[in-house]
Amino acid sequence: MGVETSLLSRAAPKRIADLNGPPGWPVLGNLLQLELSQIHAQLEGWAKIYGPVYRLRIGPRDALVVARPDLIAGILRDRPDGWSRLRTMQAVIHEMGIDGVFSAEGEAWRRQRRLVAAAFTPSHLKRYFPLIERMTERLKERLDLAARTGAWIELQTMLMRYSVDVTASLAFGIDVNTMQQANGALQEHLDQVFPMLMRRMNATFPYWRYIKLPADRAFDRHLAAGHAAVKNFVQIARDRIAENPALAERPTNLLEAMLTARDADGGMLSEAEVAGNVFTMLLAGEDTTANTLAWTLYLLHTHPQAWDAVVAEVDACLGADVIPRNVQMAGGLATIEDCSNESMRLRPVGPLAYLENNVPTEIEGVALPAGTFLLGVMRSGAVDTSIAADAADFRPSRWRVAASAAVEPVGNAGDRKLIAASMPFGAGPRVCPGRYLAMLEMKMVLATIARNYQLIEVGTEDGAPPREHLAFTMAPVGLRMKIKARAN
Ligand code: HEM
Repeated sequence: MGVETSLLSRAAPKRIADLNGPPGWPVLGNLLQLELSQIHAQLEGWAKIYGPVYRLRIGPRDALVVARPDLIAGILRDRPDGWSRLRTMQAVIHEMGIDGVFSAEGEAWRRQRRLVAAAFTPSHLKRYFPLIERMTERLKERLDLAARTGAWIELQTMLMRYSVDVTASLAFGIDVNTMQQANGALQEHLDQVFPMLMRRMNATFPYWRYIKLPADRAFDRHLAAGHAAVKNFVQIARDRIAENPALAERPTNLLEAMLTARDADGGMLSEAEVAGNVFTMLLAGEDTTANTLAWTLYLLHTHPQAWDAVVAEVDACLGADVIPRNVQMAGGLATIEDCSNESMRLRPVGPLAYLENNVPTEIEGVALPAGTFLLGVMRSGAVDTSIAADAADFRPSRWRVAASAAVEPVGNAGDRKLIAASMPFGAGPRVCPGRYLAMLEMKMVLATIARNYQLIEVGTEDGAPPREHLAFTMAPVGLRMKIKARAN
């Protein structure tokens, strides 16, 4: 009887079409309102008006927008079986020839993920720390020069070169040294991929499959240069293994592991899978880390007290050293970790998750047929001022207080909620495998700057706060930095 009553009284699931959402045009829906580089901010704004679960109409297709962290985390955990990355995005990645672990699904994803995750564990990073140390020395040379001459530093370009160099040395055992190159470096070709990916996955019609505009032709040239570089890396690694067959038993990096791994049936990763993953790693580690660092430097410069705390900690941890010399030293930089976490809470460089369900399901009483487009809005819950009045403020200490409160819960319930809602690296089985490396890079760069230089300016040319620009990752527009040597 009880069961029957509850079945009878259970409301029939709603359809997405029954939900509120921004009013749009017939047929086109909300398409004309969407501004590509601002979609994340638009979706966050609409969540404030229509609630955390609402309808978006992309042409004839209904999408569900979800801005509630608990719901998003549940979806992200239900992968790869329940949910996939958006197939339109996978298709664009595929035709660019850059499929790897990011775009793979099912069994192929499981195989690739194991290898990738093993290449970025804290113990692997510890073993190969000297490579990161060397890249950081080079970064310091460049910073020294800028400090001497008083020249402006194009922040993102410099940081992208650093992150590409670190990824290539760590994951492929190859020193690409973009840091010391003038123009035409690998990083400049990689730079073109995310904006075009963003443009094509949001296009209403895949025109480039039929006709190439000048921008598509220019992009093809950059993509070809990227593929040529990747092919060269793979060949170098093959030659290394041929010279030293012991590497097949004990690979020293991801590329060697991919070239020699066999699954339980003796199968190996295909040529395309290896190349796709090399490309994927270069892309996944570049913009994300560089933009996060750029945002963090900007926030630290505009919050001098927080910067002073970083400088004091770095001086104490590094002593006479000018850069962190081992992972223990970097590990002691808790204030930098708090600042990076706080910066990623406010400026997550991956503010949207593009997903679709593999099987019919229901979210908050809304029926979703298989293949429904779901947009996860990652930032809303982490900056919700109804949870903590200062949720929109940069206050790194909330991470320290909340961490200690987790052991002995006292006060700061708001901070704890904000922290739980912050998922800059995603969540679940597909959480970013590069997160330990990213945090290490952030500590290396921020500690090097804090130990050696005074920040004179980190800002835009006109002094206005940097605009957020979404081109797959969310970048600050036009940040430049000026430094001078510290007088110590
Ligand atoms: C601050 C820097 C970084 C941020 C904020 C970041 C963020 C993210 C996010 C949000 C995802 C999607 C996670 C999900 O679907 O749940 C992701 C996936 C991924 N990231 Fe990162 N990432 C960073 C650095 C890196 C680095 C340094 C690497 C490697 C060199 C890397 C490699 C990857 C890969 C391979 C995936 C796909 C994982 C999969 O689908 O299984 N990331 N990252």
